[in-house]
Amino acid sequence: MRDSVFWACLGLGSLCLAEPGTLSLRTYRNHEKHEQALRKRDAERLALQKRSPFTVELGNVDYLGGGFYYVNASVGTPAQEVQLDIDTGSSDVWMFGVGSCDQTTSTCSGGTFDETKSSTLDVIAPGLFKIQYFTQGSGVVGDYVGDNFSIGGQMIKNLTMGVATQAESVNTGIMGIGFDTNEALYQEELAAGYQDITPYPNLVDEMKKQGLIGTRSYSLYLDDIEAATGSIIFGGYDKAKFEGDLGILDIQPDATSGLYTSFGVILSSIGLTDSSGSTVLSTPSMPNIVVLDSGTAFTIIPADLLTEITTYLGAINDETYSWIVRCDLNGIAGTLDYQFAGPTGPVVSVPFEELAVPILNFNTGEPITDGKGNEICRLGLSAPSQANEPLLFGDTFLRSAYVVYDLDNLQIGIAQTIYNETSSDIVAITASATGQNLAGDKAVVASTPALTATQAIVAQPTLISGAVPTTIATAFGAGGGDAALTGYKTTYANRATNIPGATTTAKGAGSTGSSSGSKKNGSAGSVKDFAGGWWRGMLVQGVLVTAASLVGARLMI
Ligand SMILES: *[C@@H]1O[C@H](CO)[C@@H](O)[C@H](O)[C@H]1NC(C)=O
Ligand SMILES: *[C@@H]1O[C@H](CO)[C@@H](O)[C@H](O)[C@H]1NC(C)=O
Ligand SMILES: *[C@@H]1O[C@H](CO)[C@@H](O)[C@H](O)[C@H]1NC(C)=O
Ligand SMILES: *[C@@H]1O[C@H](CO)[C@@H](O)[C@H](O)[C@H]1NC(C)=O
Ligand SMILES: *[C@@H]1O[C@H](CO)[C@@H](O)[C@H](O)[C@H]1NC(C)=O
Repeated sequence: MRDSVFWACLGLGSLCLAEPGTLSLRTYRNHEKHEQALRKRDAERLALQKRSPFTVELGNVDYLGGGFYYVNASVGTPAQEVQLDIDTGSSDVWMFGVGSCDQTTSTCSGGTFDETKSSTLDVIAPGLFKIQYFTQGSGVVGDYVGDNFSIGGQMIKNLTMGVATQAESVNTGIMGIGFDTNEALYQEELAAGYQDITPYPNLVDEMKKQGLIGTRSYSLYLDDIEAATGSIIFGGYDKAKFEGDLGILDIQPDATSGLYTSFGVILSSIGLTDSSGSTVLSTPSMPNIVVLDSGTAFTIIPADLLTEITTYLGAINDETYSWIVRCDLNGIAGTLDYQFAGPTGPVVSVPFEELAVPILNFNTGEPITDGKGNEICRLGLSAPSQANEPLLFGDTFLRSAYVVYDLDNLQIGIAQTIYNETSSDIVAITASATGQNLAGDKAVVASTPALTATQAIVAQPTLISGAVPTTIATAFGAGGGDAALTGYKTTYANRATNIPGATTTAKGAGSTGSSSGSKKNGSAGSVKDFAGGWWRGMLVQGVLVTAASLVGARLMI
């Protein structure tokens, strides 16, 4: 099946590109002069186009617990619309082909793309696209094709994409925007021992190559858990959407291969702020590398810290849902504080209410309640199920962070997000000779952490199946006691002000308080419109990432 010429060609990308058809169709008297003129015109156009960041709106199927921020994309000629989950943890763009999706294991949401109906499609490699996700039993196989791909009003020509011919246990197509080194094919070739291979130019590479953006970079604004939309800006960032300056973090390479394959950064501590002040929680697992992954719904933190936090919040461990809390967190106000790259590094504070992920009744779309009528939510945190599982920082962290991904300089800019901010002040990210394209202070790394993650997760996440109980008659703990915390008091030097919840003094109201009513009831209508009930297959574990997003992970079906 493997054809080495094809592999080399796919990998080398532009070297294998044919001359664009439109030019070769024409004849001119003075070829050379004309071509010079064309080149000049193209160069001018490129120069004009560069430095113009563009924004793509993200839809959020919010009450599903995140993990599903989608873009509307159109593919081919005439354009076919598909909706794709945006994923910083993987690097291939793929969509369902007609009849490819197994409806017994997937909700098959977001539409399909019919290869035979596009006049601009090139089949690059039939049958050679393969990717596998953590969802138990998941797998996608299909064709590599090249075709027009548009998002946010911008078109990328001849983008290499996967079109599934067979897809199981994956609910939607995915728009992977990670490093090209994490492409499924490249990882597979590396593992098979192929030499002299390079990844094909993926979406972000092509945007730069085709002059849509000046540098391979983008920034992600997911907004808060109640917000229906977020946005991604390619080639720029929006200064109006975050507090203070960006903190600049170096992306960490894969410990074994030395390649940059995922957005791993150094986390130096996890703390908790309530009315008594800020406490840095004691743990032997910090500092550590955490991977910023928009394709994961929850935040995966070391088990000892999870225990500390669940005890503090009075969360209970439910057989079906894992950690659950009352949606109003028993009235406890405060934040979880994540500090990166040492004691002077940037701090992102996540208000407790951002951790409460609604659980809705499948049949009615209503929130489920405990025996006292309080709405209950899943706590958007979990621990690795194995020692070598990476700490994936998904949506319950990322919603509170404004994150700029600079793939050219291998850096992350991070700051406290401002929720629901409608104004904007967009700055283009242009190449700088200093080796830092983002304006902000480079965080000084205090110590080099040990990598906990060296292998793929082989965890078996639990799937919600059948109807959920409408009542959970368990009393929640009172929570909110500082006594439960082990650590030291601190004052964060680099912490943004104006964080909802961080300064409030309300304390635990015990399990007798009334329902908060603060969470939106399920807008079942919008889900039906969009997804036809795809949430039936939603992972409890919330892990929707590719195996390849993990350090040293393997991709095989
Ligand atoms: C599209 O890209 C593929 C792979 O790089 C290449 O083989 C093909 O010739 C390209 N098609 C066009 C129209 O440029
Ligand atoms: C996607 O397209 C649908 C249908 O046109 C529209 O209702 C929805 O708001 C769009 N969502 C985003 C995030 O652009
Ligand atoms: C796709 O790209 C080709 C070549 O650039 C162009 O002629 C065609 O109009 C594009 N299709 C759409 C739907 O924009
Ligand atoms: C943001 O707006 C949503 C409604 O659109 C609201 O429910 C939520 O509370 C707001 N968040 C903040 C932090 O103000
Ligand atoms: C949620 O639904 C319940 C039951 O239909 C209703 O009593 C409650 O007022 C709703 N809450 C909100 C915030 O709409």
